[in-house]
Amino acid sequence: MKRIFAPIAVVSGILVLFFGIMSANSCKTPAAITNKSGAQLWAENCNRCHNAPPPEIYSNAQWEVVGEHMRYKANLTDEEVRKIVAFLKASK
Ligand code: HEC
Repeated sequence: MKRIFAPIAVVSGILVLFFGIMSANSCKTPAAITNKSGAQLWAENCNRCHNAPPPEIYSNAQWEVVGEHMRYKANLTDEEVRKIVAFLKASK
C-alpha cells in the first residue's frame, strides 16, 4: 500500500503546484493594459466620468491622494494608477 501511495502523493503534489501557478498567472494584468503609457491611460480613463483634470492643478502629494481615490472609483489596477500619477507629476 505504501508503494502505491507515495507516487500518487508526488503526482498530486505536482498537479496542485501546476494549477496553482496557472491560476496565479491568470490574475496578471493583460499585456494590452500593461503596455499602455500613463498618458494613454489618463486620456482613456480620467474623462469617463468628468473632464480629465490637467496635471498642473494639483501638487505631487495631492496627485498621490487623488490617484488612490480614483483607483476605487475608476476600478483601475495599482499598475495603471502608478503610471497615471507618474505621468501627471511629470507633466507640469
Ligand atoms: C467611475 C467614474 C470616475 C472615473 C473613471 C474617474 N473619476 Fe475622478 N471623480 C469621480 C467622481 C464621482 C468625483 C467627485 C466625487 C468624489 O470625489 O467622490 C471625482 C473627483 C475627482 C477629482 C477631485 C478630487 C477628488 O479626489 O475627489 C479629481 C482630481 C479626479 N476625480 C481625478 C480623476 C483622475 C485622475 C481619474 C483617472 C485616473 C479619474 N478621476 C477617473 C469619478 C470618476
